[in-house]
Order: sequence, then structure tokens, then C-alpha cells
Amino acid sequence: MAARTVAVLGTGIMGAPIARNLAAARVEVRAWNRTREKAEALAEDGVEVAGSPGEAAEGADAVITMLADGDAVRAVAQEALEASGGAVWLQTSTVGLAETRELAQLADAANVQFVDSPLLGTKGPAEQAKLTVLASGPDEAREPSDRVFEAIGQKTLWLGQAGAGTRMKLVLNGWLLALTSALGESLALAQGLGVEPATFLEILDGAPMGSPYAQTKGRLILEDRLDEVSFPLRLAEKDARLVAEAATLEAGLEPELAPAVQALFAKAVARGHGERDMAAVYRASTAE
Ligand SMILES: NC(=O)c1ccc[n+]([C@@H]2O[C@H](COP(=O)([O-])OP(=O)(O)OC[C@H]3O[C@@H](n4cnc5c(N)ncnc54)[C@H](OP(=O)(O)O)[C@@H]3O)[C@@H](O)[C@H]2O)c1
Repeated sequence: MAARTVAVLGTGIMGAPIARNLAAARVEVRAWNRTREKAEALAEDGVEVAGSPGEAAEGADAVITMLADGDAVRAVAQEALEASGGAVWLQTSTVGLAETRELAQLADAANVQFVDSPLLGTKGPAEQAKLTVLASGPDEAREPSDRVFEAIGQKTLWLGQAGAGTRMKLVLNGWLLALTSALGESLALAQGLGVEPATFLEILDGAPMGSPYAQTKGRLILEDRLDEVSFPLRLAEKDARLVAEAATLEAGLEPELAPAVQALFAKAVARGHGERDMAAVYRASTAE
């Protein structure tokens, strides 16, 4: 059975456009957000605003969690799962591997099918329903999940049993966070050495070692637009920590890069850039 009523728990940068796109696809959407005003902004798009996670999830065919981190998901999951009764739980927030196992157990205890399904893509792709879904979970959950994923993304990859989605997400974020750190430090180096950073970006543009991402984030840095937030730096720091933990505790590696990247993001947060875009990691490499 495909999902007809979907609860969206968390209407931040990612959750709000997800709720809007589901409503646009004629799914009945009930949204809840800790700070209610953010969810209320969705009412004009046909989204019903719920007063609690339980109220949003009651009788829903699918429950989406799109929250900051594992602690936030833990804080709402129990109540939502108890109310949902038989729904599928699409856990799309980026959380750690141990947290994912813990959440799967919560779902089991509540007799809810757990779909570990972190998302690839940021604010723009979320608004345009062009996310990539890294889905993992039981085969029976695929059909009800897919209608939801089709409304919010352009591609769904089913990767295996729950946990596989988060493992792939952490690999991808490890790459992305290292790329952003390298970009920030290279721009700072160009400035420090007295060569034009914009020319560095121009040389990279279209070159095999360049990337479209470096152009987007590079311009954000050079044009001083770091307050145009697609992915908050405080959450990128959380992800850098999750990648370093996964490399050490789960993969058994002796990683050098992941802890260094984590330290850069932590330094940028400590310097007061946590609410800015993740590209503000650049400010960890500049003189303060
Ligand atoms: N932005 C991106 O580019 C992107 C891309 C892929 C994945 N992600 C991941 O998606 C998740 C959401 O990211 P976002 O960018 O949408 O972040 P965001 O705008 O900061 O939204 C975070 C959401 O979590 C809620 N929240 C935080 N702590 C909570 C708690 N203790 N209890 C209940 N609710 C809590 C916030 O509620 P309030 O409004 O009340 O603060 C808000 O709804 C994160 O795991 C992030 O890593 C983000």
C-alpha cells in the first residue's frame, strides 16, 4: 500500500521543502516542529500543522523524521512511534551508526518498519524535489516508502538492510567535508600568498581536479555570502564527528584526514560561525 498520509517531524531547512513537495504531490501531510512557527509557515501550502509528534503521526501511513541529530530523533521518536501504529518510519536525519541501530530497535519494539534513509542534496535540491535517497530497510517497506521518496527526490537507491543508507551517507559526507575543508584552506592560502583566489577558482573551473561544488561554495566564500545557509556549519561539524567515529570505531581504520577535518569544523564553530553555511569552515584557516 502506498503512503497517503505522511507525518513530517522537523520542518527546518530540509524538512520544510520536503513537507511542501509532499503536499504538492497530493499526499496528506501533517507537520510538527519543536518551534511551532516554522511549521505554521507551511499551512498556506496545504500542510496541516500538528501540536505534537504523536498528533502528527497518529494514523499516518509513513512518518518522516528530518531532525538535527540523534538526540533530536530520540526526543520525538518514542511518542511518534507509539501513535503511528503500523506505519513505516523513514528516518532521513543524518545520525551515527550506533544511533541508527538504537533507533531500529525502538522501531522494532513499536512494531514499526524502520527505513534508514538519509538524503543527499541540500536546500536547493530539497526545494526542487531533486534529492537522492540512500534507502535501506526491509523489502516490505519499499512500496510504501517509494511513493514518499518519489515526491521529494529524483533518485532512490535501495542499498540493503537498515544501516546501509547511513554507512553510505557517512562515506559521502566524509568526501564532501574534506572537499569543503580543502577548498577553504586553498582559498585562504591563495589570499595569504598574495595570489588572486578568484583566479584559483577560474583555473579549477571545468578542470579534471575541479568540481562544480567548489565553484558554488568558492563563490559563497569570496563574495562574503556565508550567511546564505544551505547546510549549517554546526550540523557539518556533527557529521565530521560522525565520519571520524565511524572510521575509527566501526571501520577499524587509523584515519588521519577525518579527525583533521573534524578539528577544522570544530574550530570554525568555536570562532562563532556555527549558524553560517558549512563553507565558513574557511574561517578556521584564516587568521581570526
Ligand atoms: N541542510 C542540508 O544541506 C542537509 C542535507 C542532507 C542532510 N541534512 C541533515 O538533515 C537533518 C536536518 O538538517 P536541516 O539542514 O534541515 O537542519 P535545521 O534547519 O537546523 O533543522 C533542524 C530541525 O531539528 C529540530 N530539532 C533540533 N533539536 C531538536 C530537539 N532536541 N528536539 C526536537 N527537535 C529538534 C529543529 O527544531 P527547531 O526549529 O525548533 O530548532 C529543526 O526542525 C540533519 O541531520 C542534517 O545533518 C542536511
